[in-house]
Amino acid sequence: MRVRCYIEDIGNHVGETVTLEGWLAGKRSSGKIQFLQVRDGTGFIQCVASRSDVGDESFAELDGLTQESSLRVTGTVAKDDRAPGGYELAADSVEVVHVAEEYPISRKEHGTSFLMDHRHLWIRSSRQFAVLRVRATVIAAARRYFDSRGYTLLDTPILTPAACEGTTTLFATRYFDEDAYLSQSGQLYNEATAMAFGKVYCLGPAFRAEKAKTRRHLIEFWQIEPEIAYADLDEIMDIQEEMVCEIVREVLSKREPELGILERDLEPLRRVEPPFPRIAYGEAVERLKASGQDVEWGVDFGAEHETVLSQQFDRPVLVHRYPRDVKPFYMEDDPDDPAVTLSVDMLAPEGYGEIVGGGQRVEHLDVLERRIAEAGMPREEYAWYLDLRRYGSVPHGGFGMGIERLVTWICGLAHIRETIPFPRMLSRLRP
Ligand code: 4AD
Ligand code: MG
Repeated sequence: MRVRCYIEDIGNHVGETVTLEGWLAGKRSSGKIQFLQVRDGTGFIQCVASRSDVGDESFAELDGLTQESSLRVTGTVAKDDRAPGGYELAADSVEVVHVAEEYPISRKEHGTSFLMDHRHLWIRSSRQFAVLRVRATVIAAARRYFDSRGYTLLDTPILTPAACEGTTTLFATRYFDEDAYLSQSGQLYNEATAMAFGKVYCLGPAFRAEKAKTRRHLIEFWQIEPEIAYADLDEIMDIQEEMVCEIVREVLSKREPELGILERDLEPLRRVEPPFPRIAYGEAVERLKASGQDVEWGVDFGAEHETVLSQQFDRPVLVHRYPRDVKPFYMEDDPDDPAVTLSVDMLAPEGYGEIVGGGQRVEHLDVLERRIAEAGMPREEYAWYLDLRRYGSVPHGGFGMGIERLVTWICGLAHIRETIPFPRMLSRLRP
């Protein structure tokens, strides 16, 4: 009988005979032995097939077998400390399921644009495998963080009639006879569900027609966004801090092999423990000036500013109370200083910049009406949102964490494009 086994579980089967079902990632041979690098989507392992064990016919078939051919390998699991994953499979038999055509991605260096054109295949490579496995763990950990604390997951619409994050990055589409926009954030709807369910979150794609080509921006990205009734700015910061710590801890405990493939230095990740430094925007400006940055009070921080700031700390830093002019209409004023808002961004260390944005929301109807008018937004489209300030309005707040930004930092990548299976970027809609 065939005992199917996944590579990630192989350590539980030392000395047993198991069958792996996977693909040939690479191969070398030494006359009488073929060393097959096999992957199955949960990991990579070396299978050793000797002519005497698998027989002449099978051995000859393996000799010419192309990269990415699919196969079933049955053999005995052995512990081997020199092997990359710590185990090896001594093959008794190999069944070739499909002989692949010549594979376009070889071991030689390929340019990014070639790899991106072959993204549907590139995701099979070990580094891409590692990044996307970390992504899945980040999402699972983030969801568990909220699920285990009594938050209700409530999905918000993707097709919407109005902006949440300003009109410049709106992605327009048609909704039968009307203009519609793809959601930039679920926040406004989260505020409604928070008034109905107390603590809520949504997880989904966000769309922004960002005209800038940067290492940090995608056109389509994923956000997890909690919203909490009766929460103030300090509580919002506490939640961000606790959530990020829990996610990083879970990735460290579950995805060490993947971080190893990425050669990620784990020390900076192990330092991600509370408390995170909290600095006001005004102090951040002073720090930037002191490090020679060209910046004045009142400007929004650019990527360069965030990089410089985040390099000053050994763990994520919370920058709070940004000026009114650089934040969206829904941010509550600071009662102690009307020039600033009760907003907060979390900047990742090692120069990665903003990974989380949020704050406390405007609570009172008259203020919100004024903000909507000042922003030149169509009041009718926000009538339902204004209702939330008519019927039992309470202080509340929340935030959005960009999944891909977090994964870029945790994996230590130079560019965000590898953190989502099929990135949508300024000049890329395919594959
Ligand atoms: O700071 P942002 O724009 O905040 C909001 O959308 C709020 N409405 C969220 C809320 O309070 N519920 O976006 C939140 C996060 C950013 O910190 C960043 O991590 C990520 O979303 N993000 C992007 N990630 C990739 N590509 C882009 N173009 C992104 N824009 C924002
Ligand atoms: Mg932001």
